[in-house]
Amino acid sequence: MIEAATATLDRNWRDGYTLPSPNLYPFQWNWDAGFIALGLAHVRPGRAIAEIRSLFRGQWGNGMVPHIVFHRPADNYFPGPDVWGTDPVPFRPAGVRTSGITQPPVFAFIVERISALPLGLTPEWAAFRREIFPALVAQHRHLYRHRDPLNEGLVYIQHNWEAGTDNSPVYDAALEAIDLTHARDVSSLRRDNRKVAAAHRPTDASYRRYLALVDLFNACGYRDAEIAERSPFLIQDVLFNCVLARSNRSLLALARAVNAEAGLVAEIERWCERTSAAINAKFWDGQRGFYFPYDLRAGRRIPIKTSSGFLPLFAQVCDAEQRRALARHLTSSFAPGADWLLCPSVATDEPTFDPVRYWRGPVWVNVNWMLHHGLRQSGLDDLAGRVRADTLRAMGAAGRWEYFDPRPGTPPAALGLGTDEFSWSAALALDFQLNPAPL
Ligand code: DGY
Repeated sequence: MIEAATATLDRNWRDGYTLPSPNLYPFQWNWDAGFIALGLAHVRPGRAIAEIRSLFRGQWGNGMVPHIVFHRPADNYFPGPDVWGTDPVPFRPAGVRTSGITQPPVFAFIVERISALPLGLTPEWAAFRREIFPALVAQHRHLYRHRDPLNEGLVYIQHNWEAGTDNSPVYDAALEAIDLTHARDVSSLRRDNRKVAAAHRPTDASYRRYLALVDLFNACGYRDAEIAERSPFLIQDVLFNCVLARSNRSLLALARAVNAEAGLVAEIERWCERTSAAINAKFWDGQRGFYFPYDLRAGRRIPIKTSSGFLPLFAQVCDAEQRRALARHLTSSFAPGADWLLCPSVATDEPTFDPVRYWRGPVWVNVNWMLHHGLRQSGLDDLAGRVRADTLRAMGAAGRWEYFDPRPGTPPAALGLGTDEFSWSAALALDFQLNPAPL
């Protein structure tokens, strides 16, 4: 598996950065680049720094790190750079085209994880940590300054594509609230659902709403304040905030390691405390014993159980009772039998559960990797072991697919979903096998 995973990363490498998959995603994606850099650090250490540097070439002047950097043109993806229309934005970087939204900020914890590998002990890595630290601070600061309108220590996402969990049913109601009067039909422009099974991808009706938001952001000139005022889609997402909380901890360790000045260290300490407390204050539903995202526009929690609800374990914000409640959900509604693959992206007893469609049921390797580490940090070692074993079993049987059908008895030929040769699946297969230490 190590050889096969390395071959996937080699195949998808393009002189400075890695495509998530040449077939479906022909540019550099934000959180993909983080997980990919970790895999590269194990087997192609000379490329790991380049991967992160390439992504941050796309960082905007306001600190936002875009979810796609279009280093080179490719005509087999929709929506491409012309649709995003960010060229006139005054605070976008020179010399590189990007999308206009972000993705979960994984880089600080990825840098921490790489720092413990042989690459992490080199002078190049020490210099790179000093180089990347201010960019990471700017990234987090952008989120706190521009995405936390109530000053709660929780940030909101502007688009389901910012969540990473793109097509999760938790976004359905907010997407349905979009006024489609001027929305265009983009079904003939899509490429994704022609290259992999349409049943594995979002519907045309969903894409119409996704693009209506992009058109709105364009009309707002990508100014966060204007978007917050006008957009129907403002969601405080559990995964996004848990990734931020975990990265805050790593950023604090990094700040101390690079001797950052005291005021900056204190600023990061405040981020750590406030976001950790707010995750419990706003997302935790004590009655159902689970964490749910919050729709800022509608003013309510979104009570659909998804795998993101386990990531407060990764953020390390749960008490003993919360850990027990989450473990019960993991082995019941998410896996009604011991032969189900952990962890479905939506609980199997949710009416929206769909075992093959993008983020509406299938298992994802990156969520499993974060869940595994969260379970280990919580002392739930048996469950952590099962998540790791299930992940490696699925990839061993089917290959490094984008996502996997969680149902028992699925034949290997039907287990892998979306695109094959998916870079972060390969990268995290490597970290699962080559670094047994908890994060
Ligand atoms: C896609 O095209 O589905 C991407 O994940 C959006 O970022």
